Amino acid sequence: MNRFKIKTEVRFNKNALETLREFEDKAAVIITDKFMVESGLIHKITDKMTGYKSVEVFDEITPDPTTTLIAQGLKFITKHQADIVIALGGGSSIDAAKAIVFMAERAENRDIMLIAIPTTSGTGSEVTQFAVVTDDTDHMKYPLVDEKLLPDIAILDPELVLSVPPRVTADTGMDVITHAFEALVSVNANDASDALAEKALLLAFKYLPFAYKDGSNVEAREKMHSASCLAGMAFNEVGLGINHGIAHALGAKFHIPHGRANAILMPHVIRYNAHLRACFGAEPFEAAQRYAEIARKLRLPHDNIRIAVESLIEEIKHMMRRMEIPATLWEAGVSKEDYLREKEAIIEAAMKDACSTSNPREVNREGIEKILGYITEE
Ligand SMILES: [Fe+2]
Repeated sequence: MNRFKIKTEVRFNKNALETLREFEDKAAVIITDKFMVESGLIHKITDKMTGYKSVEVFDEITPDPTTTLIAQGLKFITKHQADIVIALGGGSSIDAAKAIVFMAERAENRDIMLIAIPTTSGTGSEVTQFAVVTDDTDHMKYPLVDEKLLPDIAILDPELVLSVPPRVTADTGMDVITHAFEALVSVNANDASDALAEKALLLAFKYLPFAYKDGSNVEAREKMHSASCLAGMAFNEVGLGINHGIAHALGAKFHIPHGRANAILMPHVIRYNAHLRACFGAEPFEAAQRYAEIARKLRLPHDNIRIAVESLIEEIKHMMRRMEIPATLWEAGVSKEDYLREKEAIIEAAMKDACSTSNPREVNREGIEKILGYITEE
């Protein structure tokens, strides 16, 4: 049996922010970071909230939100008796707000409406049941997984992403593509997740280069916001894979932005999962067939499975070069010394990562070493 459930109502494209006018007379708390306040971007939100009973701002969110921060946020929304919490920002703000509301609902035994408003097109956190919280005491990251973490409403308004710099657009966009590919070939993939992942890929391959080249291109921003959300819905149900498993380990050790770490790995993970060598004279792996189908839909050369997978990999590499994304760990600023010191720990962490369990091809030490070998070539 397969199942698919979408709890979050998604309001998207131009004027989606008008949704905020529907909740007048409510007490609201906005959970965000200092940049949103100092840059004035927050006014795009508060301008729509003039009829609210109260609007308070908790702007303490920092990257990789910690348990202490979650506790502070919990105190804040309890103090202001929020009926609505608005999560405004990237993955960190939305993840933190999800955890804070989850705790507050339990502590106070009441429902609080959570509205997620992403300001990057990447994590898909606005439609996922995950939140990553870092423990202050041991600095470990703990993923929270619960349906109750899902926001009630997600607002995807392109106006909020127009000023995202090209570097961040490229990194977060590659995160979207990784989410979609990993959902597409996940061992849990089903017809519903396939539809979402496939559409996310077609949108992202077409529009990411435009969003990167000209951030003010509203159509490209709208489409990348949609792609991010669709990919989020897909992986929320069927999981991710070894690309994220290794990227999490690399990110933790070397602080490479998440999407960039995913991008560096992606061509090699696709080759590993397609396992083309195994298909001489035999039925190709299902993952290979799925990659090939995307190549066909992207109108890349696809005379046979091998050509299709290789042309998809080449297309990804080409896209990365155009957006000046590094191809190796060295280009990403990691030193050989640091890499060799951490290599074992990275392999161990990647094997244990929860994402690796839904990878289509077996995840073992040899496979991870092979992939790491490609991203540390001279
Ligand atoms: Fe990701």
